[in-house]
Amino acid sequence: MKTIDDLGDLRGKRVLVRSDFNVPLDGTTITDDGRIRAALPTLKRLVEAGAKVIVTAHLGRPKGTVDPAFSLAPVAERLGELLGAPVTLAPDTIGDGAKAAAGELGDGQVLLLENIRFDARETSKDDAERDGLARELAGLADVFVSDGFGVVHRKQASVYDVAKVLPSAVGSLVQTEVEALRRATVEPERPYVVVLGGSKVSDKLGVIANLLTKADRLLIGGGMVFTFLAAQGYRVGNSLLEEDQIDTVKGYLATAADRGVQIVLPTDIVVAPEFKANSPATVVAADDMPADQIGLDIGPKAGDQFRAAILDAKTVVWNGPMGVFEFDAFAGGTKAVAQALVDATSRGAFTIVGGGDSAAAVRTLGFDEDGFSHISTGGGASLEFLEGKTLPGIDVLN
Ligand code: 3PG
Repeated sequence: MKTIDDLGDLRGKRVLVRSDFNVPLDGTTITDDGRIRAALPTLKRLVEAGAKVIVTAHLGRPKGTVDPAFSLAPVAERLGELLGAPVTLAPDTIGDGAKAAAGELGDGQVLLLENIRFDARETSKDDAERDGLARELAGLADVFVSDGFGVVHRKQASVYDVAKVLPSAVGSLVQTEVEALRRATVEPERPYVVVLGGSKVSDKLGVIANLLTKADRLLIGGGMVFTFLAAQGYRVGNSLLEEDQIDTVKGYLATAADRGVQIVLPTDIVVAPEFKANSPATVVAADDMPADQIGLDIGPKAGDQFRAAILDAKTVVWNGPMGVFEFDAFAGGTKAVAQALVDATSRGAFTIVGGGDSAAAVRTLGFDEDGFSHISTGGGASLEFLEGKTLPGIDVLN
């Protein structure tokens, strides 16, 4: 894989960068700017090298139509603040406005193109359509730098096809992410512990199957835990349950037992009658959940149990919150796991927080990012990496 160093002298060169600026928004307010900050090393480096920097990125899934609710305007503003120099937002994605703005760019200046997913060709399944957009993007630049790790699992025009048209290199974010995830997946130092949460088992089937061949311990929390508890024959009240996955999960439990992989399930659960911040929370045993309650977090005993299972690890990967951390009453499990990772890190473990939600959780809950070895910017991308899948946006650079 070529790196930015291999692109030679970039002064005056037009560099197209793919970043992942798919940040959570509340109206037009960015609630977690982690992905924008993660893009800074590459962008600063290109600015300092005197390149004309043209950034392309997506926000949400506007499905190929121009929708102002998905404009990258808030991102352009925040990026300008963080870079300490204004970032121009092109008035369109790849139309006359974008071309004119790219033409006016001075050395060391940054232009952000409007949401690439406003153009239906970006996500098209038709190779020729994507290629058409990729060639238009390529027309704006001399070289391409792929730095949107969160989107490298997508075979899309600005991620995959454009790298076939322009001389291309990997940016420092993608490089750092790939190195960290390789360290956790290729001969990880043991014990290798993986903590999985988030709402659905069905989103994590591939990763669980793959981890059963690699990890020493698998800790399960979040909404997906109720399908595991149901697979053990427990009633889970009104909690999230994927009944159609129960048999698959039973299979995982059997495979884990055969292979000596320890699956750790919470012994207690925080429940409430409603999915609301102020719904009265109580702690119940995981094998005795009341029929009229919803499980919204792992319980305090489970927090201790998970902590103990994490502390002696040498490699820890965590993907997915343990509960509804956005509500204070149901944030305890996620906090306990985050703190256990911080403590394991200070004892010398290599720890990765993967996934958009868990990364946002550690920042929202006030943890210092330096307490973890690596916080991934990839949600789906880091999961697919853990699954051992080929990621098109990386593969194309090789
Ligand atoms: C993400 O948020 O995981 C990435 O930006 C990819 O977004 P997508 O799932 O809409 O392709």
